[in-house]
Amino acid sequence: MRPFDILDIEIYGGSHTPEIGGKLAGLPEGETFRPAAVDELMRRRKSGTYLFSTPRREEDEVVWEGCSLEGDELRVDGAITARIFNRNIRPSDYSYSRTPRPSHADYTAFVKDGSGAALSGGGRFSGRMTAPLVALGGVAEELLLRRGIRVMAYIGELAGVKGRSYLDGEVTSDEIAACHSSSLPMLSNIDKAAEAVEKAMEAHDSVGGVVECIAYGVPAGLGDALFDGLESKLSAALFAVPAVKGVEFGAGFALAGMRGSRANDPFAVKDGRVITLTNNSGGINGGISNGMPLTMRAVFRPTPSISLPQRTVDLDTLTETTIEVRGRHDATVVPRAVAAVEAAAALAILDAVLIHTERKL
Ligand SMILES: Cc1cc2nc3c(=O)[nH]c(=O)nc-3n(C[C@H](O)[C@H](O)[C@H](O)COP(=O)(O)O)c2cc1C
Repeated sequence: MRPFDILDIEIYGGSHTPEIGGKLAGLPEGETFRPAAVDELMRRRKSGTYLFSTPRREEDEVVWEGCSLEGDELRVDGAITARIFNRNIRPSDYSYSRTPRPSHADYTAFVKDGSGAALSGGGRFSGRMTAPLVALGGVAEELLLRRGIRVMAYIGELAGVKGRSYLDGEVTSDEIAACHSSSLPMLSNIDKAAEAVEKAMEAHDSVGGVVECIAYGVPAGLGDALFDGLESKLSAALFAVPAVKGVEFGAGFALAGMRGSRANDPFAVKDGRVITLTNNSGGINGGISNGMPLTMRAVFRPTPSISLPQRTVDLDTLTETTIEVRGRHDATVVPRAVAAVEAAAALAILDAVLIHTERKL
């Protein structure tokens, strides 16, 4: 799988296979990372850490291959593999390959893979596949930290309730770090958002939201024009996270309603460095980082699996029917997706850094 230039990433397994995992090649050999830091990111993705996650509990311990122990850190010896063993498997719980769940990947997987597709619990399309993504993204975050770059995400909007956003003014890395230990990783309005999700749950429904991500300390000059742009690379990575249906940078779609005089980010000099006084461009001009923090937003659809009756078709008989989805599902995927967005962005940024510094293109 390759949205990247230097890094080569492969995620394997499925929701109810005995093992899932991720392989990552292209990391600089000899670099080290703290497995405990990766575990902390995994904890933030795990069900049970934040409100409204699926009752399916998985320990998500990562077994690393391709690394050797150096004190309490792991040294990258070449291509690395993050292996995760599924313990809480219940394949019969939810298999919808004959009567596809509206807006899940059941129908498109049937079209692509045929009727024998192993789609139990969403198969390779399941949100569970973000576990290995987060493990590998955690390593990318560690390598970026050593280069002075910190990638952090939080919920910007949940169930229609907006929290404080980078669009409202500067958001510091300390504020984001602090919100990660709340009941929801959101900068404000947690109670209001929780209430809105609960209301949807009482109605057997689901909700979506927006995850915002900021990369601090990104030097100017990463990326390039057209298809080699940083926005292209980051978008490709963010759209790999299941349920993401839109990505924007800086002020994003709101730019459509602004005049140039308001949208443009004026240049200034601070401490001998070129900065911009606003950051509507999200730290990227012409596909190249301008030295300001990278800011981006990813919109998540409401969880497709809901227990309300929904119209579908029986693919065997090609007749219309209804389904009520049973099984263990997140009422909203947004709180757990924060770690996945952070991980995907970190991998994309690390790839851009490696192109720039290691290969010297
Ligand atoms: C962390 C996470 C958990 C998810 N959990 C569920 C779930 O419990 N039930 C469900 O129907 N979809 C869940 N999804 C979303 C589906 O995987 C996704 O909607 C589906 O694969 C179709 O892909 P698309 O929405 O990107 O088109 C989850 C996504 C993420 C990121």
